Amino acid sequence: MATDAGDPASRSGPGTRSSKDPGLGTGRRPGPRSGPRSGFPDGFLWGVSTSAHQIEGAAEEREPSVWDVFTARPGRVKDGSTAAVACDHCHRYREDVALLAGLGVDAYRFSVSWPRVNSPGGLGFYDRLVDELCAAGVRPVPTLFHWDLPADLDWLDRDTAGRFAEHVSVVADRLGDRVTKWITLNEPAEHTLLGHALGAHAPGRRLLFDALPAAHHQLLAHGLAVRALRAAGARDIGIANSHSPTWPASGDPADVAAAEFYDLLLNRLFSDPVVLGVYPEGLGELMPGDVAADLEVISEPLDWYGVNYYAPARVGAPQEKETEFGGLTLPPELPFSLREIEGRPVTDFGWPVVPEALTETLTGLSARYGDRLPPLVVTENGCSYEGLDDQDRIAYLDAHIDALRAALEAGADVRGYFVWSLMDNFEWAEGYARRFGLVHVDFTTQKRTPKASYHWFRERVAAARG
Ligand code: FCB
Repeated sequence: MATDAGDPASRSGPGTRSSKDPGLGTGRRPGPRSGPRSGFPDGFLWGVSTSAHQIEGAAEEREPSVWDVFTARPGRVKDGSTAAVACDHCHRYREDVALLAGLGVDAYRFSVSWPRVNSPGGLGFYDRLVDELCAAGVRPVPTLFHWDLPADLDWLDRDTAGRFAEHVSVVADRLGDRVTKWITLNEPAEHTLLGHALGAHAPGRRLLFDALPAAHHQLLAHGLAVRALRAAGARDIGIANSHSPTWPASGDPADVAAAEFYDLLLNRLFSDPVVLGVYPEGLGELMPGDVAADLEVISEPLDWYGVNYYAPARVGAPQEKETEFGGLTLPPELPFSLREIEGRPVTDFGWPVVPEALTETLTGLSARYGDRLPPLVVTENGCSYEGLDDQDRIAYLDAHIDALRAALEAGADVRGYFVWSLMDNFEWAEGYARRFGLVHVDFTTQKRTPKASYHWFRERVAAARG
C-alpha cells in the first residue's frame, strides 16, 4: 500500500493522536474478552464508515438523487421515512468529528454525495469536513459513489461512466491536497442486484438479468475514476466490494450448482474484472459495448481492495414460485433461491452471525487471486441491534476482529478494519428501523449518545495497537 508522508492526517500515530474526548467518559464495563491483544501488523488502519445519503440530511441544499425519488414513492421504504434530515450531519459534522476523535480511530470512511457536489456550496462542505478531520488527527477516506446517483442520471447509460470520471476529477482537484486514500465505488453488486435487478432499492427497477449493463457501466466508471484519480496525483486507491461465502443448502447437485452461480454473481462479477481484467464465464457476452477494451480500463491496478462483509449466504436450487427472503421478492426465473442459515444467532435485521465466514472470505479471495490481489482492507463490518448497552454488537465485532486476525495468521494480507457504522442512520429501504451505530442517534432531537460498543471499540483499538 502506498504511504502518505505528505498527508497531515496520516502523520498522527498513537503518540500524536488528538486526545480530544467529547466528554463521553469510559464508565461502562468492558465487553467480552476485551484486554490487550495484538497480532495486527504495524500501520493497520482502524476506522469506522458512513455514507452521505444515510447521514447527511440537508437534502434541500443539494440536487435530488435517485434515492430521493425512490423514497418519495409510497411503500418503498418500510417505515415510510426519507433521508431528508437523517442525522443532520451536514450541520453537525463538528460534533461527529469530535466523536471520531474520542473513539481514537485512525481513519473515517465517508462518502461524497455526487448531487451535493453538483450543487452550489456542496464541495465547500467536504472541504470543511476534511479540514476538521485532519485537525482531529483522523484520516479522511472518501468513497466517491455510495448509491446516491444524481436523479437525472442512469447506470443503464454508458455516458454515466464518463460523467462519473468528471465528478471524480472535480472532487480530487478540490480535496486531493489533504485526502490521499480514496474509494471509487461502494458495493456495485448490491446496487445492481437490489436497485436494478430486484427493485428493492433505488432506482427501483426489476430488470433481472437485463440489469447487467448497469453492472458493466459501474465497473467502467470505476476504471475511469482510477485513471482520473491517478491524473490528479492519487497513490492510494481502492474499491469497496461486498463479499460473502455462498454455501449450498445441501450436497444435492442442483443446490451446489445454484450456489456456484450465486457466487459468480455476488463475489466474482465485480472482482474478476477489477483484479484479473476478465468477466466470469458466460457473463462477458451479456455485457454491452466493446467489452475487451473496457476491461483494460476496468482492471487499472489498485493499491488495495476493500471488502464489505456481514453474513454468508445459503443458496438452493430455484423454486417454482415467487419466494420472499430477507425483504426481497425473488421471482422463479432466477437460477437460485436463498435459504435461512439455521442454528446461529441472528441480528435484529435477521442476518446470521457467522464470524468464521469472514476468515473464509478473506482467505478465499487471497487463494483465488494470489499475487494479482492487492492488499485487503475490511471496509465495512457490523450489525443492527437496539439499545445503548449493546453487548450483542460488542460480541459480534469482537468475534469478527478475531476472525480477521485468523485470516492474517493464515497468510491473508489485510491492512485495515472499518466498522459499519459510526452512528445509527437511514438504512435504505429499512428506513430508521435498523440501528448499526456505535453511537445512538435520537432522530427527533438529533442527540448523539455513545453506546457501550463505542467505549469498547476504543479500548479494543488501543489494545490492538499494543
Ligand atoms: C451495506 C451498505 C451500507 C449499509 C450496510 C448495512 O451493504 O454498503 O450502506 O447499508 O450494508
